Amino acid sequence: MAGNTEEHFVTDKNVIRTRKRMLSCPAAMIAPRNQWYIAALSQEVTRGMLSRQILDDHIVFFRTEDGSPVGLADRCPHRGVPLSMGTIKDDAIRCAYHGFEFGKTGVCQRVPSQSRIMPQLAVQSYPLLEIGPYIWIWMGDPARADESLLPDQFELGITRPDWKITPLFVMEMGCNYQLLHENLLDVSHISFLHAGMLDTGSMAAASFKASYAGGRVRISRDLNEIPNDVMAKTFNLTAGKPVRRTLITEAIPPQLSVITNIFTDPENPNAPPHTMISPQGVTPSGNNRCLNFLINCTSYPDEQPEDALPHLWKLFEQDKVVLEAVQKRFDEEGWDLPEVSVMADAAALNFRLKMVELVEAEREKAATAKPLGST
Ligand SMILES: [Fe+2]
Repeated sequence: MAGNTEEHFVTDKNVIRTRKRMLSCPAAMIAPRNQWYIAALSQEVTRGMLSRQILDDHIVFFRTEDGSPVGLADRCPHRGVPLSMGTIKDDAIRCAYHGFEFGKTGVCQRVPSQSRIMPQLAVQSYPLLEIGPYIWIWMGDPARADESLLPDQFELGITRPDWKITPLFVMEMGCNYQLLHENLLDVSHISFLHAGMLDTGSMAAASFKASYAGGRVRISRDLNEIPNDVMAKTFNLTAGKPVRRTLITEAIPPQLSVITNIFTDPENPNAPPHTMISPQGVTPSGNNRCLNFLINCTSYPDEQPEDALPHLWKLFEQDKVVLEAVQKRFDEEGWDLPEVSVMADAAALNFRLKMVELVEAEREKAATAKPLGST
């Protein structure tokens, strides 16, 4: 199915080895670069500095005096010190080591020890877009940054009139981003890993419909539930009052998973549904690590109960523990370890195939690209 690529890695004995990266292994998925990814929740980027690794690149984020977000390569080209160790001066970062200053375009504006500034004294500046609760980053060639590739914001629940948007948190996980994608797409684990927290035990056995279109994978389940206290808190429902629930999970390659819960009252089925859309940013970080960004968009104005946030954090930590253990096994025993799949895995496997196709398409494009200046 998938081609291979060579990868250098360090064993426990610090011996550098080379092995084939299995593109079809969920613990070793490569990330396509000519795409938008969520870099940060809007509230995380301030007049201070945020250092974050995205697709293996170290990037420092800050805001200029007019509030615009900036993302620069987090390494001074002079002696390699992370710029995030420096200070913000007006719209520039001053390196902590020798005081070189880099503006928002990444060009060096000042070398304290001389007046001449060589053009090589520049760092990469990444195209960013701030939309609602997110700051998006384009990780490929800046000249190819294409806003039409951004996911539809209405679909995510972000631009719906009168909906409430609640940014929640970002959690770093020590696993390849594909493992997180497959976890979010596979809701049959809810009844076990998160027992009693997101359903009343019926999710794993519920029948589902799957559809595949435009590279996306969408799964839908309909069920009747009587929320317990914990589930009621998570979704602002009334404990003990029966609900009709539709749960839709949709994976959008390569950077998002959208979870939609639609609740209706079986005694009043024509009343407006009580809907929560939870888009989850799935951003590759460094060396088989990833970032999971969570927000909730709701059709109703109620605040989530105060203790819902620690509850949700705990829930995501349960996934983190399991996914990090899976990554560790693959890393230790080989990326060609076999998996035995069941029917419920069809959607995740289909999505894996889409991701491999996306990665391979980008690699083929790069391989056939003409060098600049050639005819
Ligand atoms: Fe989970």
